[in-house]
Amino acid sequence: MPNPKPIAFILIFINVVALVTSKSTIEPCSNSDSCNALLAYTLYTDLKVSEVASLFQIDPIALLTANAIDISYPDVENHILPSQLFLKIPITCSCVDGIRKSVLTHYKTRPSDTLTSIADSIYSGLVSADQIQEANSIDDPSVLDVGQSLVVPLPCTCFNGTDNSLPAIYLSYVVKEVDTLAAIAARYATTLTDLMNVNAMGSTSIKAGDILAVPLPACASKFPRYASDFGLIVPNGSYAVSASHCVQCSCGPGNLNLYCTPASLAVSCSSMQCRNSNLMLGNVTVQQSSAGCNVTSCSYGGYVNGTIITSLSVSLQPRCPGPRQFPPLVAPPTKVIRDASFAPAPAPQSDGSGTSTPKTGVVPTTGSLPGLPPASGPIGSTSVSFSVNPSATLIIAAVLFFLAMVSPSL
Ligand SMILES: *[C@@H]1O[C@H](CO)[C@@H](O)[C@H](O)[C@H]1NC(C)=O
Ligand SMILES: *[C@@H]1O[C@H](CO)[C@@H](O)[C@H](O)[C@H]1NC(C)=O
Ligand SMILES: *[C@@H]1O[C@H](CO)[C@@H](O)[C@H](O)[C@H]1NC(C)=O
Ligand SMILES: *[C@@H]1O[C@H](CO)[C@@H](O)[C@H](O)[C@H]1NC(C)=O
Ligand SMILES: *[C@@H]1O[C@H](CO)[C@@H](O)[C@H](O)[C@H]1NC(C)=O
Repeated sequence: MPNPKPIAFILIFINVVALVTSKSTIEPCSNSDSCNALLAYTLYTDLKVSEVASLFQIDPIALLTANAIDISYPDVENHILPSQLFLKIPITCSCVDGIRKSVLTHYKTRPSDTLTSIADSIYSGLVSADQIQEANSIDDPSVLDVGQSLVVPLPCTCFNGTDNSLPAIYLSYVVKEVDTLAAIAARYATTLTDLMNVNAMGSTSIKAGDILAVPLPACASKFPRYASDFGLIVPNGSYAVSASHCVQCSCGPGNLNLYCTPASLAVSCSSMQCRNSNLMLGNVTVQQSSAGCNVTSCSYGGYVNGTIITSLSVSLQPRCPGPRQFPPLVAPPTKVIRDASFAPAPAPQSDGSGTSTPKTGVVPTTGSLPGLPPASGPIGSTSVSFSVNPSATLIIAAVLFFLAMVSPSL
């Protein structure tokens, strides 16, 4: 792990040299591991669920479950989502040229597209026109061929899947005109200090277009490295599907233990029964004894070579667990209700995944988490300013790569 201090120093130097437009948090990386991450995305027009999914080349079911939208609605993939709807887009975050980013998204240009309209409108500011131009080596951005497939590099961070040593997944959030850092912290049930640490910020000042990494508490899996869903991490209040749509895993609201059950989707699946028992995935039996509560559970251990790995565990707990709670599901949204937490709200609101959908009422809760005291953020975080000159990102990449090479453990 490169020492963050020299990186910060050199990047500050670059900031002074380059013409600063907006800031983005960059995480240096040196291995080929990838992680689950989220993008905060605002729909630019009415689009079907499947159309939004294809914009990011992701599974429509994954899009729905990440936003806790009920997938049992008839024909839900063709449901039309309203313009300006806020969605969390689940993506895979990789390590490219020494920097965390997602490069799996391609966009096929249509008549009247410009690099600016693709960046600012279609991808809601998650990428800049310069970044698309650079990623695709476009000499003249005024000439775009219709039907051309463009790589759309998208911002993401992993930070080892933790924040203050607790499991976390990172949301790339594009700052809007009305945002304050305090309101963003309140909206995502984190603290100002934590946001500043994660994003290596010296002050609370932000401006429209900046991209912040926002840590969301999550449930981490412990699947073996050879499982195809190794590293699965699900944010509190939402769901994920795995094992070719055979298994669904949820996180929260009561605790942050990943809980997986057979998915309700009609597909043919390998056995989900735990060996040497009659328990199915997700089944829990309890037996009160003088010593405490004997809890037997059949849990999911990852997807390996088309096989659903199950594991039976028996534990003695002081008290028997109550009935399993699930994050509330919402109906596919049909209209956008102005979200008060976009504005600098006086009272913090914790709204979890509900931000993506119309709500009839707001449950009053406190904005900060008692379990997350402000402490030092993940190491290796660096706040970087992009310049109008696209070569600055190349310089940054080169510098980070160089540092990763020369300072293995300072
Ligand atoms: C990454 O997180 C794991 C636990 O999830 C921990 O064991 C490991 O030490 C962390 N690595 C670094 C470099 O922080
Ligand atoms: C998870 O979400 C629920 C509902 O939004 C909330 O009550 C709970 O405090 C959250 N847990 C954590 C650890 O963030
Ligand atoms: C076991 O899990 C299956 C699938 O989720 C469910 O249908 C069944 O009711 C559960 N059985 C018990 C005893 O909890
Ligand atoms: C707990 O229950 C399991 C299965 O019902 C049984 O095999 C085991 O002996 C029990 N353990 C204790 C400590 O009671
Ligand atoms: C998966 O299957 C392939 C070929 O059948 C085998 O070589 C490999 O060892 C299997 N992997 C695991 C983790 O079982």
